[in-house]
Amino acid sequence: MVICQCNRVTKREIESVVHAGARTPDQVTYETGAGSVCGSCLPALQAVCQRVTAEACDVCVGQVLVS
Ligand code: FES
Repeated sequence: MVICQCNRVTKREIESVVHAGARTPDQVTYETGAGSVCGSCLPALQAVCQRVTAEACDVCVGQVLVS
């Protein structure tokens, strides 16, 4: 699924850079170029960023509780 039409950046590419450590839309834009032209994809970019970050936090919380 393409999130950023201007730069042809997919949801999977955005998820990948967030998993790799990007935590803000600005960092995702720096890594992928998504959001750097018209900006209409920024709300969707931010939603993916927040979802993946929240999932990562759930994993971290689980690891703390287990160990
Ligand atoms: S759709 Fe992403 S910058 Fe235009």
